[in-house]
Amino acid sequence: MPGRVIESKWPTGWPSFAQPDSNCKDRHSHDLKKAIISEYGADALCQAWVKTCDALSSVMAQIAEAGTNAVPVFHYDEIIETAKNEKALEDIKATGCCVIRGVIPSEEASQHFEDLTKFIAQNDSVSGWPQESPAIFYLYESPVQLKLRTHPHQLRLQRLLNSLFSDPTLSASEQEAQWEPILYPDALRIRQPGQDFDGLGPHIDGGSLSRWADVEYRRTYDQILSGHPEDYDPYDLTHRRQARPSMFPGGAQCSVLRTFQGWTALTECAPGEGGLMVVPDIHLATAYMMLRPFFKPPSDGDWQDPRKWELDDSAWFPGTYPMDSQLLGPASHPHLRLEETLVHIPTVYPGDTIWWHADMCHAVGVTHNGTRPASVVYIPACPSTPDNKAYIRGHWKDLLAGNPPDDYKYLDGMEDKLVLSTQNERKMVGALPIESISVEGRRALGEGV
Ligand SMILES: [Fe+2]
Repeated sequence: MPGRVIESKWPTGWPSFAQPDSNCKDRHSHDLKKAIISEYGADALCQAWVKTCDALSSVMAQIAEAGTNAVPVFHYDEIIETAKNEKALEDIKATGCCVIRGVIPSEEASQHFEDLTKFIAQNDSVSGWPQESPAIFYLYESPVQLKLRTHPHQLRLQRLLNSLFSDPTLSASEQEAQWEPILYPDALRIRQPGQDFDGLGPHIDGGSLSRWADVEYRRTYDQILSGHPEDYDPYDLTHRRQARPSMFPGGAQCSVLRTFQGWTALTECAPGEGGLMVVPDIHLATAYMMLRPFFKPPSDGDWQDPRKWELDDSAWFPGTYPMDSQLLGPASHPHLRLEETLVHIPTVYPGDTIWWHADMCHAVGVTHNGTRPASVVYIPACPSTPDNKAYIRGHWKDLLAGNPPDDYKYLDGMEDKLVLSTQNERKMVGALPIESISVEGRRALGEGV
């Protein structure tokens, strides 16, 4: 794409963004930015920008120093035990991510990996990406995925993770009901040793331009844009639950609200073995991402000093392509110091889970230097908001009929290349009988919701 610049210190294939990396004739972006500047005021935006960049300098230095250790790690038993978990939950909220070990017993998870590879071998119609040697498989309801998603530990943990979010517009009992997990069906990954993968550089899922363009989504970030980033609460659902991340439809969009994105590991994966990388800060990094389009760096090259940056009312939203996730890079988002702060998560073992706030900047490591396949099943945490319930109600019908979930009806989800999936997972060899799933699990998959 024009304007995407590959930097020498950045992994080959991970783009960074220099102006203009998007179509500056795009009147929508131009008008949108001017309208936001007018709505919140230049002074408020400038105050927020300086406060955020100043605070980032020490927080990013701490993350760069800590590296992988900046990601909190807990065991399922200690996090689920109410009497012991207060400090742990504070740590998770402060960083916006965590590894929770032992959610699925290790032997059970390893057996799942064996079963999964056997299931894929038995069903040669299963396709994936890249087409010639898939690492991500277009499977959503295989027996292993259904068993993992509906495992009682998963449901209990997801309920807890959902409860970290508050919704002041609801009563206490309504909020509690909203914590009930919705099991969003997503794909899985089996990445072979030595398999390079540069398709997922630093990005934030849940839309891109929609964060500014959709009024409810933008309201989520009101405190940031109105000059008070210190008051921004990443865990307030008031506006977020009605936001439209996919107002510009595209293959990278997810139709439901996820409180945390998640991976459940089926194999051991150490740093450098093709796993997840995150910027373990949710408060300031989000504020910076939201404010960055409104400022341009000084011509003298002294980008470190936020006071030297000037208001930018051009059409440019750095790394923002409406149908894609929000993309970030060192050139466009320098104060994040991504070369040092995008850290590998710690080694995970079969049955461990990884969770990161839906606004968190993350990436997938380019190289896999290990000796084992790195395999995870994508299992996020999603609350029972009205929109999420509507999605999962539709999913239940698709699940019974064998149809792909709504967000995955097309094999290639980009505009003019749409190819309707004809896959029917109910007809696959070894498909899991739905009646074998627990009542609680079936509810979270959409039955009677
Ligand atoms: Fe992602």
